Parts: sequence; C-alpha cells; structure tokens
Amino acid sequence: MSSRFLVALAFVSACTPLTATALQVELPAETASYVASDLPGYQLVQQNCLICHSAQYVLTQPRTLPRSYWEATVGKMSKVFGAPFPEQDTAAMVDYLSKTYGAERPTPAAP
Ligand code: HEC
Repeated sequence: MSSRFLVALAFVSACTPLTATALQVELPAETASYVASDLPGYQLVQQNCLICHSAQYVLTQPRTLPRSYWEATVGKMSKVFGAPFPEQDTAAMVDYLSKTYGAERPTPAAP
C-alpha cells in the first residue's frame, strides 16, 4: 500500500460526517399528583397547573400555609409566570389548595 493511498484514506475518513443517530431520552415516571377531591378546584388544577411543572411544587409547601398564601401563589402563577388559566378559575383552585394542602385541611395530622 502506497503512503499516498494511506494519506488519501485518512483524509476521506476524517471528512466523512458522523452518522446521526436518534437520541433516546427516558424521563423518570411522574410520581407526584394532585390529591383527588370532590372540590371543583381539583379538576381545575389538573387542567391549569400541570402545564409548566408537576404537582411536586404544591406538595412540598408547608401544610400550615393560610389561604392568603395560596391566593398569592395562584395569582403569581398567572400574573408573573403567565399561566394561561381564566381568572374565574382562581377562587375554586385556591379553595381546593387551601383545604387540601394548606392550613384549612380537615385532618392536619394526615400526610
Ligand atoms: C406558566 C407556567 C406555570 C403554570 C401554568 C403554573 N406555574 Fe407554578 N410555578 C411556575 C414557575 C416558573 C415557578 C417557579 C419555579 C422556580 O422558582 O424554580 C412556579 C412555582 C410554583 C410553586 C412553588 C412556590 C413558589 O411560589 O415558587 C407552587 C406552589 C406553584 N408553582 C403552584 C402552582 C399552581 C397551584 C398552579 C396552578 C394554578 C401553577 N403553579 C401553575 C410556573 C407555572
């Protein structure tokens, strides 16, 4: 094999583009979900609050927080972060969040 051929071969292999392969990304299964409830706000948080982040953000808030916290937080999601839910959904969602995750929970000792 001539050295000229080897140089040509090295040139060709260096210039051959790498073959593109599809990247498989396996995300972990979602484990956090909103606690089911008969309160109308349950359906609304399912519709409005899972677009950007999981229920984990709500689940990790202290259980002692008053309704005013949930009012402020739901308002912030809309006004600051641009959550696209209608204003009329706010009251029912705040009610559900306060009674399920906040200080108004009927059984504060439950998980
Ligand atoms: C448009 C996207 C978007 C939607 C929709 C959304 N959020 Fe958020 N949320 C955010 C962002 C951004 C943060 C802040 C994340 C960070 O600080 O890392 C956040 C943070 C939070 C937190 C953590 C506490 C805090 O104040 O940062 C809670 C609780 C929360 N969201 C609840 C909700 C609830 C309840 C809803 C439905 C009413 C909702 N989010 C809908 C974007 C959204």
